[in-house]
Amino acid sequence: MRTIRKLGETLIPVPSVFKTYFHKDLPEDIPFDYTDQIYAGFDSCGVPIIIPKDYNSYDYRETLLPIVGYTLVTKNVCKALASFIKDKKVLEIMAGTGCLTYGLRSFGVNIHATDDYSEELLTNFWIKDLEQLDCIESVRKYGSQIDYLLISWCAQKAPILTVIQLLKHINPKAQIIYIGETKGGCTGNDALWDMVTPIRYNNFYEAVLCYRSWYGLHDRPFLLRIN
Ligand SMILES: C[S@@+](CC[C@H](N)C(=O)[O-])C[C@H]1O[C@@H](n2cnc3c(N)ncnc32)[C@H](O)[C@@H]1O
Repeated sequence: MRTIRKLGETLIPVPSVFKTYFHKDLPEDIPFDYTDQIYAGFDSCGVPIIIPKDYNSYDYRETLLPIVGYTLVTKNVCKALASFIKDKKVLEIMAGTGCLTYGLRSFGVNIHATDDYSEELLTNFWIKDLEQLDCIESVRKYGSQIDYLLISWCAQKAPILTVIQLLKHINPKAQIIYIGETKGGCTGNDALWDMVTPIRYNNFYEAVLCYRSWYGLHDRPFLLRIN
């Protein structure tokens, strides 16, 4: 167990599976145990303590969130996305900590990340070139050069409709890799789903299978085309 100070908050012990994040390395995978059922270390007799579902997972999530972000980034999911993306160009907007861009770059993806820094996250930890730029300006600046626009856990108040309309205008062939819940879910803005169509593509499913959500959440990767 290791403890880390949540930004401005209390110390919360975090199970060892997550400790790679603190050393700027991604875990291969997050065992289902940590997303379904919470392991809380050992008692004084050395017996593992298992806490029932959802008891403590949000403490772990809240502790990791300022460092990793909302998406549980693992090597497995980055590797699967990278083997789908290949040598195509990607822009990640609302990139938060930049952890996902870091992971994708480590598997060779040509990706640039932007965020307007409106949320208090560790934006200088994973990558040094996380550009401070609003999502609309990001698409205006880079939209014509990309094959994929990556959005994970879209900010609910972000002007996503304008972003999509602008991308459609500038680069109608660009597709969107979206990580979040589907319509009616807790991520992003429902209006997005009226402007896009999920694409069924076998090579993308490995990333979906590798993806892990925190207990109670239903986020996953989607491949979307703009209608
Ligand atoms: C819910 S967080 C998701 C961050 C990251 N993608 C992740 O999965 O952890 C939303 C991010 O969008 C950024 N953001 C909010 N409004 C924005 C805007 N209009 N333009 C660019 N970034 C914005 C915030 O700073 C925050 O980092």
